[in-house]
Amino acid sequence: MSKTKLYPLKININGVWKKAKVAPEESLLKVLREKLGHTEVKEGCGKGDCGACAVLLNGKPVNACLTLALQADQQKVVTVKGIGTPDRPHPLQESFVKRGAIQCGFCTAGMLVSAKNLLDENPNPSRDEIKKAISGNLCRCTGYKKIIEAIEEAAQKIRQTIYDKR
Ligand code: FES
Ligand code: FES
Repeated sequence: MSKTKLYPLKININGVWKKAKVAPEESLLKVLREKLGHTEVKEGCGKGDCGACAVLLNGKPVNACLTLALQADQQKVVTVKGIGTPDRPHPLQESFVKRGAIQCGFCTAGMLVSAKNLLDENPNPSRDEIKKAISGNLCRCTGYKKIIEAIEEAAQKIRQTIYDKR
C-alpha cells in the first residue's frame, strides 16, 4: 500500500508560528483541530454550509473545511481565540455573553469571526449589513435576534472607543 506523501506546513496562528506535516487533500479545519490543537475551530457540516469552522485567513473569513491546509502555508490565520481572551475579551465577545447570544455555543466561534471581519471593515453597519455578514453562519439556537443585537452593541462600543481616542 503506497503511503500518502506529506508536505511541511508553517502557519501563523493567532500570532504564533506552528508547523505540521500534511497531505495535499487535508483541510485547514482538520489540520487546525487534529494536528495543531486548535479545537476552538468547530466542525459542523464539513461542506461549507454552516460557517461553524470560519477563521480569518490573512484577515478575510474563510470556511476552514473548504480550505486546503496547504493554501494557508506561510499565511496568517486568526481563530476565535485570537480575537480576544478571557482576560481581554473583544467587545463582540463581551456583548455576545451579555446579550445571551450564545446558547449551545457551537456556532459562536464562526459567528464571532464573521462579525469581527464586518466590524473591522465597517464599525457602523446597518442591520441588513450585519445580517448579510453572518448569512453564512447558521445558528440552531438563538433565532439570530440576540446575535444581531450583540453585534450592534459591540459596534457601538468600538465606535465610542474610536471617538474617545480622537
Ligand atoms: S463545518 Fe465548515 S462550513 Fe460547516
Ligand atoms: S448558539 Fe447553538 S448553534 Fe448557535
